[in-house]
Amino acid sequence: MEFSIKAGDLSTHKTDCVFVGIWETKKIAAAAALALDKAAKGAISAAAANGDISGKLGSTMMLHGVAGIAAKRVLLVGLGDEKKYDAHTFCKAIVSAFKALKGTAVTDVTLTLSTKYGKDMPHKVEQTVIAAIDAAYRYTATKKADSKAVGKLVTFHVDGKVDDKALKEAIRKGQAIGEGMQLTKHLGDLPPNIATPTHLAETAKKLAKDYKFKLTILEKKDMQKLGMNTLLSVSKGSVEPPKFIVLEHNGGKKGAKPVVLVGKGVTFDTGGISIKPSAEMDEMKYDMCGAGSVLGAMKMVGMMKLPLNVVMLVPTCENMPGGNATRPGDVVTSMSGQTVEILNTDAEGRLILCDALTYAERFKPEVVVDAATLTGAMVISLGHHTTGVFSNDDTLGWELIQAGSASHDRAWLLPMGQEYDDMLKSNFADIPNISGGRAGGAITAACFLARFTKSYKWAHLDIAGTAWKSGADKGATGRPVPLLSKFLMKRAGV
Ligand code: BES
Ligand code: MN
Ligand code: ZN
Repeated sequence: MEFSIKAGDLSTHKTDCVFVGIWETKKIAAAAALALDKAAKGAISAAAANGDISGKLGSTMMLHGVAGIAAKRVLLVGLGDEKKYDAHTFCKAIVSAFKALKGTAVTDVTLTLSTKYGKDMPHKVEQTVIAAIDAAYRYTATKKADSKAVGKLVTFHVDGKVDDKALKEAIRKGQAIGEGMQLTKHLGDLPPNIATPTHLAETAKKLAKDYKFKLTILEKKDMQKLGMNTLLSVSKGSVEPPKFIVLEHNGGKKGAKPVVLVGKGVTFDTGGISIKPSAEMDEMKYDMCGAGSVLGAMKMVGMMKLPLNVVMLVPTCENMPGGNATRPGDVVTSMSGQTVEILNTDAEGRLILCDALTYAERFKPEVVVDAATLTGAMVISLGHHTTGVFSNDDTLGWELIQAGSASHDRAWLLPMGQEYDDMLKSNFADIPNISGGRAGGAITAACFLARFTKSYKWAHLDIAGTAWKSGADKGATGRPVPLLSKFLMKRAGV
């Protein structure tokens, strides 16, 4: 997909479709669009006023063959209340605009950027690029796409003097984030017989080649040597070999401590011997979305050549029942030396993550951030719109929440603490893998992880509610790649 910036008369600009934003009052927002309406002898404003579009945020209406202008189509896009207009509004509107193109023959799109709102212009450009790339995502691995991908070319029409360099940089950032999300969605949507631990390792290998990352893949025997027994306990029931994937990007100062990203890579979670109910079990192919998102974030890091040292760790395996599977009641010794009583084999995410978090110590991390579809309880607490953040360092926790807000990838902080940690008691090991009850399930899971992160600043993102959508629109969302990207970019100073 190509992106360009253009000035001049919008009415003579040839394009398949031009977006025109309107307020709830049906008034046209941008000056350039008002001029366009004038060239069309008021046809656009008349269509907006006729009542077929509400002007509510995200509403759209397509106009064809408007006389007097070169654009083949005009897409009216509702921006809602002018007084409430901000970056979030813009982001929502632009996402709906690109969605409205689905099923049309539009391949190039033009939208206006008003210098009246000049200050956040780069941000709008970045968001538009992400929305355009995201809207072009089609799942094609095992079926033909239902509709053509729209938007080969997106033109930003500007109505005055702009900082060209800043806008070009915004395009570059948007492309890196957008492409990162594409990879994450692709991996998430792939069926579990294709997206195996081996496939994730192959994906990392390709990233290493494309962006000159250092790649290390630990095999089962390497993990045995390191004592990663909690990780291995999860993969025991499966015939798929487990992998521990390490990618290193040395873009920062030599010797500067790295940011370590860790992603849960359970390529299919049956629950193991504590088997899950069969309804919707197919969605447990998405249990590797944490891994998918850190791989997506690394794609962004590579495309941006980010001036920061970043390490990615992906423990990946399949959670299956079987003759050799782990039993409820088994006790294993984690890489940290702490013994773990596995009371429920379905609480497996924390078992693979805890060994990865111990492995992270060798990088002497600046901070460690993990992303995991860890608990059903997370979905109960925050639903499907907000990612849960847990941290042993409040400043780091809020830094992530701000990164989420800045990238329209919302996250919010949840508590941990002694009272919750006290719920993790075992008569037969240092720690059980479940707390006994359902109360505070996302928090006690985080407390389990916290037992393995005592030597560095750490945050945990529970993306169980936000990594994918169920129902008719079933599919991976690409989250939390935008959040992780903003977090890393800010740390890299770009
Ligand atoms: N992968 C699941 C969490 C999950 C469930 C994410 C549903 C999204 C939707 C995780 O491995 C799991 O099974 N967790 C258990 C933990 C419980 C046994 C303490 C859960 O949440 O039920
Ligand atoms: Mn599970
Ligand atoms: Zn799981």
